[in-house]
Amino acid sequence: MRLVLIGPPGAGKGTQSSRLAAYLRLPHLSTGEMLREAMAAESALGRQARQYIERGQLVPDELVLDMVCQRLAQPDCRAGMLLDGFPRTVRQAEALDAYLQGRGMPLDLAIELAVPDQEVAERLQKRGRHDDRPDVVDQRLHAYWTATRPLLDYYRGRGLLRTVDGRGTIEEVFQRLVQTLTCSHPPHP
Ligand code: AP5
Ligand code: MG
Repeated sequence: MRLVLIGPPGAGKGTQSSRLAAYLRLPHLSTGEMLREAMAAESALGRQARQYIERGQLVPDELVLDMVCQRLAQPDCRAGMLLDGFPRTVRQAEALDAYLQGRGMPLDLAIELAVPDQEVAERLQKRGRHDDRPDVVDQRLHAYWTATRPLLDYYRGRGLLRTVDGRGTIEEVFQRLVQTLTCSHPPHP
């Protein structure tokens, strides 16, 4: 199964993807985690990405696409994958479609994890990751509304979008996600 999880910063994409990936026995690919690893390793990619991440801006598509395509080519992705925080722009979504279609394994579902801005801002304030400063969170939310929300229409138009309420406890949200997957009968299991 090939799944994409979309949602604003702090929606719970990482929390729920870890659980879902274990439940579905799929690799969990988080572009945010991959970029933070690159930054920690001080690689060329990490050095380039840092200037965007620290400002709450999206890392340029070319850099992210290179990184993701290398990861998707690994053998553990042959049976499917759960993508967390990617794609984040229509250009990334088109590139992902082209990549997967070219291998005869199209995307099964895109799930929107919906949480209001006020609630995600409160969650991130409590967590305190390096990019969770209020001014940076504002920028991340801006990037979500301007660059990433258009993806919802992109996937809705392809009949692939499901929206799940991301409010409530972590367990409640997980059960909603499992129910959505069960009800959706993806055409390419
Ligand atoms: P990324 O790491 O993807 O960050 P993000 O999308 O801003 O979201 P977060 O990881 O902060 O939140 P999340 O939705 O995963 O929620 P989480 O489970 O952690 O990206 C970081 C940066 O990298 C971007 O700003 C960008 O610069 C760059 N980047 C990454 N991907 C890119 C791409 N494809 N293209 C370009 N640039 C890219 O939960 C958040 C908090 O809430 C936690 O403390 C958690 O414990 C808590 N929580 C979770 N669920 C609940 C719940 N139900 N109730 C209460 N609290 C909860
Ligand atoms: Mg995350």
